[in-house]
Amino acid sequence: MYRLITVSMLVLAIAIGGYTQTKRLATNSSSSPSYGKAQAERGKTVYSSTKRVVSNATEQLNSLGISQAYYTESQAERGKAYFYAACGVCHTADPKSQNGTMDTATGLGWHRGPVNSYGLFVGDAWLASASGVPGRPQRWDTVADLYNKVRTTQPAYDVAGLSTQEYLDIVAYLLKQNGLPSGKEELKNDLNQMRNMTLDKGFERLFNGKDLTGWGFVVGPNCKPAPEGCGGTTPGTTFKIKDGTVLNTGSPHGYMYPQKKFWNFTLRLQYRFEPYEGMESDDDLFTNTGYLLFITKHDVWPRTLEVQGKNDFEMSLAMGGNESTYTFDDAARIRARKPAGQWNSVEIVSKDGQLWTT
Ligand code: HEC
Repeated sequence: MYRLITVSMLVLAIAIGGYTQTKRLATNSSSSPSYGKAQAERGKTVYSSTKRVVSNATEQLNSLGISQAYYTESQAERGKAYFYAACGVCHTADPKSQNGTMDTATGLGWHRGPVNSYGLFVGDAWLASASGVPGRPQRWDTVADLYNKVRTTQPAYDVAGLSTQEYLDIVAYLLKQNGLPSGKEELKNDLNQMRNMTLDKGFERLFNGKDLTGWGFVVGPNCKPAPEGCGGTTPGTTFKIKDGTVLNTGSPHGYMYPQKKFWNFTLRLQYRFEPYEGMESDDDLFTNTGYLLFITKHDVWPRTLEVQGKNDFEMSLAMGGNESTYTFDDAARIRARKPAGQWNSVEIVSKDGQLWTT
C-alpha cells in the first residue's frame, strides 16, 4: 500500500492500503453555541455580505497531468471571514502584518511576559519550517497536518469549538494566502485525501488520490508489455485505489511507473504492509516490493537498479547485474522501520548518478 508518492523536482506521493483513522476527535458542530462559533458567525456577516466570488476556475495540471488545487476561491473567501473572527486576535495571514510579538496595548496576541505573541501564517518561515519529526520533511508537510493541528487545538480559547466546515474553510484560506492554487473542488473532510495533498515546495504530486492518472503498468510474470509480449498495460487486479491510497495486491506480479522520466529527483512516499490474518509478528511477514529505478526497457522484471522495499531489507540496493558500490546503515534501517499496519516514510534522492535512500 502506498500513500504519497512525491518526486522532487517533482513530488510523488503514494500511499498504498487502507488507512484506519482514529476517531478520538469529535467535531462539536451540534454542541451549544460557543465563543468560537459566535465569533465565526460574526465573521460571516463582516465579510460574506460584501464579497461574492465567482468560480469558473480552469485548473492547472502538473507535468503528470495531475491537479494540485486543493480548494476553491469561494471556500477561501468563507474561510477568511472565519479566520479573522475566530483566529484574528492571535494570528494573521496578512503578509504585510507584524510577526512574532505585539505590544500588549494593541490587545492582539496572547500574553507572554511583557509582550504578546502573535503569529503570521504566511511564507516559508511558517509553512515550510522544520517539523523536528523524523520522516516528516517540514512542519506542515501535507494539508492533513495543518488541518489536524487547527481542528484539534484551535482556537486556543475554545479548542475544537468550530464546526468541521468552518475548519476546512479556514485551512482553505491559509492555503490561498500561502500561494497554493485554487481549483474546482472544495477541500473536504477526508483525511486520506488531505494526506495526498503535499505542501512541500517544488514537489509535484504523482497520485491524485482518486484514480491512476499519470501512471503506466506492466503486469504479468516474465512478460514484456503487449502487443510485443504477454504483459497487461492496465492496473488489472494488481493495483487498486482504496480509501485514497494505492493498494498493491501483488497478484499477478508487475509494476506501475510514472509516465514521465526523472533523472535528478527526490521521491517521497509512504507505504505500509497490511498484516495478514493469523500473523503473529513481523518475523512472519514475507512481503516484497521495491522501487525500480532507471528502467530503460519495460519487462517483468526489467534491468533496473532497485531500492528494496522487501520486508527486512528496506532501502538497501538490489543491483540486478548492474555495477555499483554502496554503503548501508542497517542499524538505521531497523530503527526507522515501523511494524506491519503502520505507515513508513521513504525518501530516495537521485543526483548525477548517485543515490541516497532514507
Ligand atoms: C487566544 C489566542 C488564539 C486564538 C484566538 C487562536 N490561536 Fe492559534 N495558537 C495560539 C497559541 C497560544 C498557540 C501555541 C500553542 C499551540 O500550538 O497550541 C497557537 C498555535 C497555533 C498554530 C500552530 C503554530 C504555528 O505557528 O503554526 C496554528 C496553525 C494555529 N494556532 C491556528 C489557529 C487558527 C486557525 C485559529 C482560529 C480557528 C487560531 N489559531 C486561534 C493562540 C490562539
